[in-house]
Amino acid sequence: MQSANEKRTENVLAGHVTIRTNYMDKVTRIGVSIEPELLKEFDDLIRKKGYLARSEALRDLIRNALAEEIWRIDTSDVVGTVNLLYEHEKGSVREKLMEIQHLHHSQISSSMHVHLNAEQCLEVLVVSGKAGDVKRLSDDLCSVRGILQGKLTMTAGSIGPHLHE
Ligand code: NI
Repeated sequence: MQSANEKRTENVLAGHVTIRTNYMDKVTRIGVSIEPELLKEFDDLIRKKGYLARSEALRDLIRNALAEEIWRIDTSDVVGTVNLLYEHEKGSVREKLMEIQHLHHSQISSSMHVHLNAEQCLEVLVVSGKAGDVKRLSDDLCSVRGILQGKLTMTAGSIGPHLHE
């Protein structure tokens, strides 16, 4: 939620965003100068997306930019999902998908298969590993003949050592 201070600042300074510090939450205040037209477009966009405050929208943009930078580097550790939509009776799509998944079993943590209707199946795989390997695996899967739609989504999370008690 937007704090009273933040709201006042945004109302008073058209074209200037100030993110105030909330010392309780240990956040830092920054000021951003921005053209009014650009700010209006930004406000329209974040309103459509359902953000209640500019600060949260800006934080999300920054987090996404940082995550994308990590995904761009092939040696980064990443985690994500691959969505695969196909018709199970068309050609040898099921066999081919199974073959690729077994070949790369160490990169696939989990898979879910949903029979959408009489013809179509949706398979969702949770994948992890080096970004380059994950992208290659996704490309191999998505390019299988018979895949109607294939998409890799990477998340900002990562699989690391499990340290909980
Ligand atoms: Ni199915």
